[in-house]
Parts: sequence; structure tokens; C-alpha cells
Amino acid sequence: MARKNIVAGNWKMNNNATQTQELIQGLKSSLEGITLNSRVVIAPTFVNLSSAVSSTEGTAIEVSAQNMHQADSGAYTGEISADMLKDIDIQTVILGHSERRTYFGEGDELLKEKVNTALAKELEVIFCFGELLEDRKSDNHFAVVESQLKNVLFDLKADQWKNIVLAYEPVWAIGTGETASPEQAQEMHAFIRSLIENQYGAEVSEDVSILYGGSVKPGNAQEIFSKKDVDGGLIGGASLKVQDFTEIIKAI
Ligand code: 13P
Repeated sequence: MARKNIVAGNWKMNNNATQTQELIQGLKSSLEGITLNSRVVIAPTFVNLSSAVSSTEGTAIEVSAQNMHQADSGAYTGEISADMLKDIDIQTVILGHSERRTYFGEGDELLKEKVNTALAKELEVIFCFGELLEDRKSDNHFAVVESQLKNVLFDLKADQWKNIVLAYEPVWAIGTGETASPEQAQEMHAFIRSLIENQYGAEVSEDVSILYGGSVKPGNAQEIFSKKDVDGGLIGGASLKVQDFTEIIKAI
């Protein structure tokens, strides 16, 4: 099974219900008649997931959650469980985003629990990771990425990897306008694939989609996506504009 290209829009804490619908309707019409070379995923906020699922029914657009809690249910005020997501036909969840790590203190141990719960509930996980600017400056970026992956994902069984998508998001490139160069992205993606190959063998490593995230725009998408180990992108800011997101989708 060859790996799939994926272009995913992480809408973060943006857009009320009306704006979410406008964006979805805009995307639906701009993608009409286009032959897609990738899966297209959008991740609106929790409160807009249900309506996003309804309004994308019968289209190629898939809907993902941005987060979930690790427990099955219980006294966790303000949280959302995997079962709740499944119940409204969500199949995918983003976990480990750097904003969750930075602002909400999510670390490897917690993320491992979240990933394990999500997979046990048969959700697909888009697992985000990436180094800080200081890590790259001190030439520690490979070591940081290696430990983020190993600590969270390397106890999985080989067959669980079919529900894992990786998103390498160097923190210094998120929302900063600064992008990893296509060569920097390729270098890291190849390194990630080699780690997976060493642990799980070539079949798993060749099948896993590795997305790049961090200031992907219409102007740089094509060059980044053209790299051999880059299988698409996780897009923040540019996914909030119909035209930009459509151009990025077309770039793959
Ligand atoms: P930007 O595309 O806005 O840099 O955000 C990237 C990101 O965090 C996607 O999850």
C-alpha cells in the first residue's frame, strides 16, 4: 500500500459557526471539478465539528478534530473524548501540536496516552512534533525529533502505524512566516523515515505519510511538496482563506 498525500487545514481557534460554514462552502465550490492528488482534511474547532461533518458529507473533504482527552469518559470538565468524536463521525484527530505542548503543557507521556487511546478507538492520528529554534541553532534538532517520536510512538505495534500520519512542524516556522527550506524539510523527513525503518522495517516506513507544517503558502507549497519524503502539509493561516488553501491543495 503506497502512502497517500494529505493536505490538512488546522483552523485552530478561528471562525465562529457562520464563518466555518462560509469557509466550507467556499472550499466545496473551489474544489469542484478538480482532480485531487491528495486527501483533503479540515480541522475546525470542537463546537463546529458536527456541522462541518454534515456539510462535507458526500464530498472529498474529511473532518478532523484538533485534540481530544486521553480518558474514555468521566469527571474531566471541559474535555472531549474519543468516543464523542467517533459518535459524530470524526475519523481523525490531531495530537501533539506545538501549541498544545507550549500553552497547555502537553508532554511526551501524556501524548503517548492520547495516541494510545485514539488508536484503541480506531481514530486516525495526525501526530505533530518538531524542534524549537534554540534546538536547531544548537544543532540538536535531529535528537529532539528522534526523542519526540521514540517516546510517544515507538512502543506501537507495526500494524498500528496504518492509522498514524506524521506532521513535522518546526516550531520556529509556525505562524512566523519563516519556512523550513525544501531541503531542510526533506532532510528531516528522510531522517524520520529512517528512524521508522530501523524500528519497524521498510514496509511501515514507506507507507507512513509525513506532512510538513509551518508557514506553508501558495508561493512555497509546490517546492516543498515536490520533495520525495514530503507527503503533503499541515496548514495553519493559509488554510483559513479559500483561495490560498485551494492553491496549496492544487500544488500537490
Ligand atoms: P502556519 O501555517 O500558520 O504556520 O501554522 C502551521 C501549523 O501550526 C499547522 O498545524
